[in-house]
Amino acid sequence: MDITILGIESSCDDTSAAVLRNNVLLSNVIASQAVHVKYGGVIPELASRAHQQNIIPVVDTALREAGVTASQIDAIAFTRGPGLVGSLLVGVSFAKGLSIARNIPMVEVNHLQGHILSHFVDLPDRQLPHPDFPFLCLLVSGGHTQIVRVDSPLEMRIIGTTIDDAAGEAFDKCAKVMGLPYPGGPVIDKLAREGDREAFRFARPRVEGYDYSFSGLKTSFLYTLRDAVAGDPDFIERRKADLCASLQHTIVEILLDKLVRASKQTGIRDIAIAGGVSANSGLRDGIVEAGRRRGWRTFLPEFKFTTDNAAMIAMAGYYRYRQGEFSSLDVSPAARLEELA
Ligand code: KG4
Ligand code: ZN
Repeated sequence: MDITILGIESSCDDTSAAVLRNNVLLSNVIASQAVHVKYGGVIPELASRAHQQNIIPVVDTALREAGVTASQIDAIAFTRGPGLVGSLLVGVSFAKGLSIARNIPMVEVNHLQGHILSHFVDLPDRQLPHPDFPFLCLLVSGGHTQIVRVDSPLEMRIIGTTIDDAAGEAFDKCAKVMGLPYPGGPVIDKLAREGDREAFRFARPRVEGYDYSFSGLKTSFLYTLRDAVAGDPDFIERRKADLCASLQHTIVEILLDKLVRASKQTGIRDIAIAGGVSANSGLRDGIVEAGRRRGWRTFLPEFKFTTDNAAMIAMAGYYRYRQGEFSSLDVSPAARLEELA
């Protein structure tokens, strides 16, 4: 029997709704919030208000584009966390309202598991490559950097995580000190293409196991700029491309180093990446190259599934729905990963 899921994502600054039939994507609508650009970062209070304004038109559009009416939806999957509480609250409350109005179940989704399960979505006209279980997923976003061992759609174990900044945060913070617009990741990615990645050397972390750290790199980047600008006020402008290329190269090498070790030690060679930073061209090239050398099968998400989207939430919701894992009406957002089951 076909199962039609409406997915809702509102954890940060993108309001998104998607319709999925089994694992085939019928629509995926994303309203990005431009309001944060002038502040150089996401302002939680403004994000909640924008979600409140966007949610109904975004859901309406997603249903229309899918050619589905509200009465044809079997369940609503929503992001319960982690994320900004006020933003999550909009999606959670919307899901409750629709669940009561249509008498259909709600399924809560862990946003990070959603990113990982985006690898199982197919398009109406095209099957996408899916990893086999177990696989390792390098999950790299603005808030999280993890190596996750995925044994099934509902069984995942974090085997490495950042002890300070996330990879996306490292991109965004370094971009900010260079005076680049928010979010800095995509801007650095673009500038890096024109630069020499060997031009500068920045500090690399020494952390045990599969854990990551990016705060030392950030500090060393900052000191390099400070010392250089003291003698040459135009330094950043002149060397922007080289700075971006070297920074990106360092971040990618840090990410790959632990991933390679995790693959060696677990013997798992199906390797996926997910999350906003998985759009990064240096990381994508680096994973493919490492995979070629080590006999991995590598899985890079389509660009539309890298940053926050509701397709991945609907996908994760589909698997939970099939297990009968429904949420009750007293469910509330969980800002932190630790609060989620
Ligand atoms: O997954 P995501 O959309 O939101 C979170 O759940 O955090 O990730 C957003 C992050 C931001 O830090 C942004 O700078 C980064 O993904 N990002 C990139 C690129 N595109 C987005 N970082 C590096 N290169 C990119 N091309
Ligand atoms: Zn995300």
